[in-house]
Amino acid sequence: MMGERIRAMKWWDIPQVHDIEVECFPDDSWSIDQFWRELAGSTREYLVAVDEDHAVVGYAGVFVLAPDSDLQTVAVRPDRRGRRIGRELLDACVQVAKRRDATSMMLEVRSTNEDAIGMYEGLGFHAIATRSRYYPDGGDAVIMRLRPLEVSP
Ligand SMILES: CC(C)(COP(=O)(O)OP(=O)(O)OC[C@H]1O[C@@H](n2cnc3c(N)ncnc32)[C@H](O)[C@@H]1OP(=O)(O)O)[C@@H](O)C(=O)NCCC(=O)NCCS
Repeated sequence: MMGERIRAMKWWDIPQVHDIEVECFPDDSWSIDQFWRELAGSTREYLVAVDEDHAVVGYAGVFVLAPDSDLQTVAVRPDRRGRRIGRELLDACVQVAKRRDATSMMLEVRSTNEDAIGMYEGLGFHAIATRSRYYPDGGDAVIMRLRPLEVSP
């Protein structure tokens, strides 16, 4: 990260977050309402990465029900990728989960999403299962887990 910082997502971030969501997940993007509901849930925490001009350049969310936690989503604006923003967002989610007494984190990712799988492996996640035709379009999912919740440097 070069000048970006991570903070809690606020309701006023939702329009910018939703724009990134639509760009990153055009086929199955969450609605504005879904982001509102996620922010209201006490078992969830959402974070944004903002640049020097306070523009949102990425976001992530985690669901924690100790001792388990689930990465709900992570995305970085296409023009800001490769600056380790995704990694920092994920690391921040792991810290949230640890603070809420979780001892492991799970996630599912499209088996063809090499960028994301590379990022998760870099943080110490391991594939533990695959789910055939998990996504509505027939795509397979890989289930990955980080346990214990220690991020590799
Ligand atoms: C996945 C995503 C969040 C990564 O964000 P990012 O800020 O570009 O990632 P980082 O710069 O933090 O990279 C961290 C690691 O991810 C992997 N990675 C990221 N982009 C990659 C690419 N284009 N090719 C290969 N590996 C890549 C690398 O292992 C990288 O580690 P390195 O910097 O040591 O090489 C981003 O590509 C994205 O928003 N994709 C679309 C949304 C999405 O698929 N989200 C995940 C849904 S499960």
